[in-house]
Amino acid sequence: MTISHIASRAMWSVACVVVALSVRSADPGAGAATETWAGRAASRALAGHPGLPQLRAPDRARLTPESVALGRKIFFDRRLSLNGTISCGMCHVPEQAFASNELSTAVGFEGRSVKRNAPTLLYIGHLDVLFHDGRETSLETQFVGPLVAHNEMANPSIGRVVDLLRTLPDYRGSFESAFGAPAGLDSIGAALAAYQRTLIAGPSRFDRWRFGGEGKALTEEEQRGFALFSGKAGCARCHVAGTRDAMFTDQKYHDTGYGWWREHIRQSPEATEPVEVAPGVRFNLGRDVVASVSAPQQADLGRYEVTLDPRDLWSFRTPSLRNAALTAPYMHDGGIRTLADVVAFYDAGGRPHARQSPLVRPLGLDAAERAALVAFLGTLTSAGIDELVREARTAPPDNW
Ligand code: HEC
Ligand code: HEC
Repeated sequence: MTISHIASRAMWSVACVVVALSVRSADPGAGAATETWAGRAASRALAGHPGLPQLRAPDRARLTPESVALGRKIFFDRRLSLNGTISCGMCHVPEQAFASNELSTAVGFEGRSVKRNAPTLLYIGHLDVLFHDGRETSLETQFVGPLVAHNEMANPSIGRVVDLLRTLPDYRGSFESAFGAPAGLDSIGAALAAYQRTLIAGPSRFDRWRFGGEGKALTEEEQRGFALFSGKAGCARCHVAGTRDAMFTDQKYHDTGYGWWREHIRQSPEATEPVEVAPGVRFNLGRDVVASVSAPQQADLGRYEVTLDPRDLWSFRTPSLRNAALTAPYMHDGGIRTLADVVAFYDAGGRPHARQSPLVRPLGLDAAERAALVAFLGTLTSAGIDELVREARTAPPDNW
């Protein structure tokens, strides 16, 4: 072996190391270090913050920088829909609090309508009852639904998605390094769950006031709002705020009158509907006119669709109210535009009918009390959501 051979060998080894290092740093999830965004995100989720219950042990165990980075990539990968156009992140938009602020009900594959509003995924890792009707109970299994729904990502089978993730070259090795096995249903679910469990930001002003001992974090009006929320207005009977933590949901199902009312409107042909014909310009059009140019509006029977128990008709899961100020429009079909209108709905006692929950009844609030409730709801916004948006957009495939 000549000197030049040795020299070129040495240079080759150096080149290999350099290539290896740059490949490593190009992969945002590589390494357990907290210098990577995924490392920081995983630590944030594991640490939690005042006002949040702890994640459960099995959920914590699989929350690693590798699984978080892989989950993010899957979440934003449009190639995983039948014609490569739609990803999870297009309905759960990071800049819109991981919800869809611009649509009452979601629009999926080839413009097909979904009958419900896309909920925020912020704090979703802390809920056990998923979807507006609670038909799923874990993030590890929930993801199959949107991937195969004909009006969401439209895959003919979940096997197709597994095959794709086993063959797309840029996924090579990533499931192995995160989970020690090739892509499969279990590991895809675990990766998506890991990423979604990092979608928690810093504590809200309410958390700091109630659980962090910062007496001045809320204004007097906001404090009055909380007193109403947990007292006279009875909101906390369902949107529970405990003394150790608060998710603002009992994770149960109730008939607030809203679902029943919406179905009543759907069935009444003489009703009109406000239609936005240009930004900010709304006309009340007859339902028959709207129906002539849109897909037929489907009935929504709520929890009944899951249990077929008539007692569950028009019951929906109590949603968390964390970040409610960012997640308009409201209710399962996004039919209420502002928090002030939601409060007015409850103040009027819902839409009384035989099945409505006795916990929803006329409240007799005055204007100042209604305003205080809205002000209080505004204190549930997490600090630092911008960081989650930056993480979401940190690398391809979201910007392919
Ligand atoms: C076409 C828009 C659309 C796409 C694409 C989509 N979702 Fe959703 N997502 C929704 C809607 C609408 C709901 C509520 C459906 C219901 O309650 O029946 C929902 C509900 C959820 C929930 C439950 C939220 C809660 O509050 O209970 C999770 C978690 C979720 N989606 C994650 C995902 C993941 C992961 C993907 C990609 C694999 C995805 N979504 C793709 C529209 C979408
Ligand atoms: C009987 C239980 C119950 C009570 C009492 C109650 N809620 Fe609700 N709340 C619900 C349920 C269930 C939904 C979902 C309804 C739907 O989607 O059709 C909901 C939805 C909401 C939403 C919409 C959230 C979203 O993301 O779409 C807000 C805001 C809200 N409630 C605030 C309040 C306030 C403020 C009060 C008190 C004035 C209150 N709630 C009282 C059960 C309750």
